[in-house]
Amino acid sequence: MKITCIGAGYVGGPTMAVIADKCPDIDVTIVDLNAQRIAQWNDDDLSNLPVFEPGLSDVVAKTRNRNLFFSTDVENAIREGDIIFIAVNTPTKTYGVGKGMAADLKYVELCARQIAEIAHGEKIIVEKSTLPVRTAQSLKTILSNNAKNLSFQVLSNPEFLAEGTAVQDLYHPDRVLIGGDQTPEGLKAIETLTSIYARWIPRERIIQTNVWSSELSKLTANSFLAQRISSINSISALCEQTGANVSEIAKAIGTDSRIGSKFLQASVGFGGSCFQKDILNLVYLCRYFNLPEVADYWEHVIKMNDYQKRRFANKIIETLFNSVSGKKITCLGWAFKKDTNDTRESAAIYVTTALLRDKAEIHVYDPKVTPEQIYADLDYMKQHHRSNDMTGIAGDMTTKELKDLVHVHNEPYEAMDKAHAIALLTEWEEFSSYDWEAIYNKMYKPAFVFDGRNLLQKDKLSKIGFEVYTIGN
Ligand code: NAI
Repeated sequence: MKITCIGAGYVGGPTMAVIADKCPDIDVTIVDLNAQRIAQWNDDDLSNLPVFEPGLSDVVAKTRNRNLFFSTDVENAIREGDIIFIAVNTPTKTYGVGKGMAADLKYVELCARQIAEIAHGEKIIVEKSTLPVRTAQSLKTILSNNAKNLSFQVLSNPEFLAEGTAVQDLYHPDRVLIGGDQTPEGLKAIETLTSIYARWIPRERIIQTNVWSSELSKLTANSFLAQRISSINSISALCEQTGANVSEIAKAIGTDSRIGSKFLQASVGFGGSCFQKDILNLVYLCRYFNLPEVADYWEHVIKMNDYQKRRFANKIIETLFNSVSGKKITCLGWAFKKDTNDTRESAAIYVTTALLRDKAEIHVYDPKVTPEQIYADLDYMKQHHRSNDMTGIAGDMTTKELKDLVHVHNEPYEAMDKAHAIALLTEWEEFSSYDWEAIYNKMYKPAFVFDGRNLLQKDKLSKIGFEVYTIGN
């Protein structure tokens, strides 16, 4: 048996590397149109892999060119693969009908058309990308109208890994979900895919459903997770007005087994490529199916997240005597969470945008994110953000002006030298081990720290002399 995966990104790369590790008798080929990305996956120097995830380079080192292959030859991989995973990006649409809400399925559709054109014989096509419910029907329609001599089944097998712990999650998932047609052929395809995962995952953790439940479960799971963050963040705002402490509240409610303790960490707001996109997608679907109350309910999870990011930026501006113009603000962290180099929808981008609107001089240090990525994120924000409220620097700042105001450092102490304030935006653990006394001595006074992740020890910093703001305390 041969496996092909279209899309060598944050999902395709790690997922297939782990399958290749656990199934040494199966050849796994990951293809991508992006030649640079494929070259990085094939780079002898494993520190150049395009995706940073703890443990990933070890799995790639073990499997690459044994039974794991990275290639730009999409056509050949489609021809050869018995099982074809589609793990391409499904971003929020930035144009036309459904702009700013619906998932842009053009990349998925392109894959389906290419498979229809090239594939022969028997194939199982697996939706690994997160897709709106009923997308499998569109894939089937494209395939059956265009393919010749192809017998196929479409399965939904959404990915639940979390970036930062992807490798661990893939080896030990809470569950794997496989949805397919409830026909004899569909059930056979479900069983084929199940037998692959069953090589390392107990069968009781492999959930089989119909294809629509599987598609909708992924959107629901991400919406529930994001909802918890927005819920605790909403309480953090109330804590700041009342003297309650959100960390104490999280502990007090999290010990209730019905609530559970995970995902109750208040912060500057959630980011990442998935939560916002998937909720917007859910909201769009609800409106499409004429369920406005359901749509409004979920949309508020995002509104609360926007509010939290805006609130944090405003707090910085207000505290610095109502203006940050010409002041050096250092952002510690740019990735949307620790242990990843992914910056999509990172809170850092929003906070920085708001500060730039107030003409701050921004200095950034992140252990894993490149300067090119940081400038690209700010440029993207200028053009594409769905909410005008968040696109503060749109139009009125050229790329050159942006580069003049945003400085990226590869050394943290230099980034914080002579700063007026520090905004901690990603929970990288190394930040808590810095020599904060030395940092204090080199900053303008009062020296402000805005800890957007409640990572630092507030008492210790206050004792040094910092003015410290934490979330919900
Ligand atoms: P990504 O953007 O990192 O990777 C997608 C890759 O697909 C890109 O390298 C792109 O060049 C390639 N691609 C697009 N169209 C192609 C085509 N026609 N032929 C060949 N390659 C093509 O995206 P990521 O983060 O891996 O996400 C993929 C999907 O998985 C999305 O639907 C996402 O919602 C979902 N997902 C993502 C998770 C995450 O943590 N990033 C977790 C779970 C699901």
